[in-house]
Amino acid sequence: MGREGQNELRLAKRMSRLGTETAFEVLSRARAREQQGRDIIHLEIGEPDFDTPPNIVQAAVNALNAGWTHYGPSAGYPELRETIAAEVSRTRGVQVSADEVVVVPGGKPIIFYSILALVDEGDEVIYPNPGFPIYESMIRYVGGRAVPIRLREEKDFAFDVDEFSSLITDKTRLIILNSPQNPTGGVLEKSDIEQIATAIGDRNIFVLSDEIYSRLVFDGKHHSIMAEPGFKDRTILLDGFSKAYAMTGWRMGYGVMRADLAAEFSRLMVNSNSCTSSFTQMAGVEALRGDQSSVDRMCDEFRGRAEMFVTGLNRIPGFSCRMPKGAFYAFPNISGTRWKSKALAEALLDQAGVACLAGSSFGEFGEGYLRFSVANSMENLAKALERIADWAEKNVHH
Ligand SMILES: Cc1ncc(COP(=O)(O)O)c(C=O)c1O
Repeated sequence: MGREGQNELRLAKRMSRLGTETAFEVLSRARAREQQGRDIIHLEIGEPDFDTPPNIVQAAVNALNAGWTHYGPSAGYPELRETIAAEVSRTRGVQVSADEVVVVPGGKPIIFYSILALVDEGDEVIYPNPGFPIYESMIRYVGGRAVPIRLREEKDFAFDVDEFSSLITDKTRLIILNSPQNPTGGVLEKSDIEQIATAIGDRNIFVLSDEIYSRLVFDGKHHSIMAEPGFKDRTILLDGFSKAYAMTGWRMGYGVMRADLAAEFSRLMVNSNSCTSSFTQMAGVEALRGDQSSVDRMCDEFRGRAEMFVTGLNRIPGFSCRMPKGAFYAFPNISGTRWKSKALAEALLDQAGVACLAGSSFGEFGEGYLRFSVANSMENLAKALERIADWAEKNVHH
């Protein structure tokens, strides 16, 4: 090999199959514009604009002062695992115990580990599309076959169960569900979940149920497939602290699954992170056991903002938007503008000073949509609407 050859970056082949989450890229592009003196309204990143409630911050400070600064058990401290088991048992109506809980740094590692632990090369995984981009990225990374189930706007972004049934084959190993859903704000109702459970039947297939937005449902109750008869031992429930308690930067989430699989997830933890931060876990106990009023306030606030923003979007020529049923995103159909999603998102950033994401960054069936996070102040949301409306007046032709 020649001299230049020694510095050539030669990556493992699987790296070419790894995707990404565009939100972080758009955020850095928007920040670069700001450094050039531009005023940008940030509606791209999926995180609450609220601060972590003070009782949780105080619990972490106390834990630091009390010396919770060492390695802990790889699956999490027993006190937190028990607290999570009690919380999940109460909210999902299914009895789970502490040895069925694995605490990890964020919700994301549960996606990573579920796919690493269960999917072999050539195995099929059904996942929502448009959906959180990490699902498809990880399925492809491990050499699995990514099988999209299209979420349909006319069904309020649920999917067609007959279509779903037709995608299940002998090679299906894992099915990913997400409710409330990113990016559409769609919610699986109890009847949807029952139909999905019936379609899966008694096949030996696991379900990864991503319930990270479970505390942000605008009407009615959150339901989990884990509570369906026969599904407790075939479900990996993902939830965490990021969205419910405005703790995105703390990096803490969890998976709930049968104990023998939980032991395998622990082994993946030993091989990657060793454990989740110790003082953070002590704050997690306070988050789940302490005052919950901030969670409800935040949810009410997101619903109010979503109503205002969606109403505003529907007044803009070429935009048509359904009211989300949960989470904190608006996902307007922009096909009436005759712009492609990515070009429109870029134009809004460059020409209108509004950062949002192209629907197509959530998969092929996201083309024709944009995603706006409403986790920003009413004032900024109103300003963003004005800017988009002004821009559309000049650039959308009928
Ligand atoms: C659907 C979905 N699942 C998982 C996550 C990951 O959450 P965390 O930040 O806790 O890793 C997100 C974050 O945006 C999400 O939208």
